[in-house]
Amino acid sequence: MMMHRKSIKGSKSNKLEGKGIVLGITGSIAAVESVKLSRELMRHGAEVYAVMSRDAKKIIHPYALEFGTGNPVVDEITGKTEHVSYAGEHDRKCHLILIAPSTANTISKIACGIDDTPVTTVVSTGFGKIPIMIVPAMHISMYKNPIITENIEKLEKHGVEFLTPKIQENKAKLPEIDDIVNEVLKKLSPKDFEGKKVLVTAGPTIEKIDDVRYITNKSSGLMGIKIAEEFELRGADVTLVLGPTSLKSTVKTENVKTYDEMLRAVISHKDSDIAIFAAATSDFYVDNSLTGKTPSSKSFNITLRPHKKIIEEFSKVSKSFIVGFKAEHDVSEDELLRKAYDRLQKFDMDLIVANDVGKKMRGFETKTNELFIIDKSKKIHHLPLEEKEKLSKKIVDVIKKYLN
Ligand SMILES: Cc1cc2nc3c(=O)[nH]c(=O)nc-3n(C[C@H](O)[C@H](O)[C@H](O)COP(=O)(O)O)c2cc1C
Repeated sequence: MMMHRKSIKGSKSNKLEGKGIVLGITGSIAAVESVKLSRELMRHGAEVYAVMSRDAKKIIHPYALEFGTGNPVVDEITGKTEHVSYAGEHDRKCHLILIAPSTANTISKIACGIDDTPVTTVVSTGFGKIPIMIVPAMHISMYKNPIITENIEKLEKHGVEFLTPKIQENKAKLPEIDDIVNEVLKKLSPKDFEGKKVLVTAGPTIEKIDDVRYITNKSSGLMGIKIAEEFELRGADVTLVLGPTSLKSTVKTENVKTYDEMLRAVISHKDSDIAIFAAATSDFYVDNSLTGKTPSSKSFNITLRPHKKIIEEFSKVSKSFIVGFKAEHDVSEDELLRKAYDRLQKFDMDLIVANDVGKKMRGFETKTNELFIIDKSKKIHHLPLEEKEKLSKKIVDVIKKYLN
């Protein structure tokens, strides 16, 4: 079978690079979502091979999947024995069989070992050897059918993973595409941080001027969120302490607003194995903050006094492997590296990640960054300009080199 790699715009990460995914599509109306799902998997580097049941073809034409995946669509098993090349013991192409959407019919056939559609034949071939993930989509009356429930439980006992559908309008619908992709990422990522407790801070904090006004900074929290998510994908038990931002994360999150709340949250996780301080915590507090709403008719002065650095307070009480961040604004590379190294020494960090937020496409409010990671012996790891999602993997890879 001739396969060709389709280049894809809007690449998000390379977390699924080298991974082949069989996307099994069955005769649910949610089959119309399968092109979008395949494109999202490809945006993380996966090679997607669509396999369709006869009834799936009544909902969506194979051409749509062929166009979307850039690979031929298997809609019947031929003399090429596609099921063997995708999921067979030896020259298997695939690391995961994902059935999305899965009908009640296909679930029950798999539970009984029946294979009479291309989807169920690929599953029969890979069963017990390749991870299988099933995303049911059906009317609620089918989903609640006790026979279907029994079949799901039976398959779970055999290690088949089921994603929980979104229950809406009397239907068990496909979860959000991003949630399906995230489960795939979790399944296929190496679990090299299993058993590690990781703390990540992200986002800005606010400092009160009066009861209705505050000062803050431009941090979006994106870099820290992506680092937290990367650790979680790789098996760590992660807590994200997140300042006020519009971004959300799939990671267990403790939301904080002020420096004091951030400090308290961080210290309560002092038993973490690894602590990453990516938050842009306020450097100053308003010494003469007021209560109520200060009248807007008169000027008044506020006095800003420096806070103690949270990372310094943390390193006094914790044995964690500590990674700090240092942002400078439009300085030379030498100055950036020198200031970052001074900070690393001053607060007894293990690594410091330096970036220049004054340069184009770097730092706050951008999706990209360029980073320098410096260790105690002044060794520098340069991570050139790239999306923060891709950088997060590289940062975690560098951290891994320092852990035994
Ligand atoms: C328009 C339409 C929508 C359907 N939606 C679903 C569905 O969401 N879930 C389901 O289990 N069956 C659904 N069915 C019924 C299945 O297509 C039917 O059970 C079929 O035998 C499934 O075959 P397959 O599992 O081999 O794809 C639908 C049928 C039609 C015509």
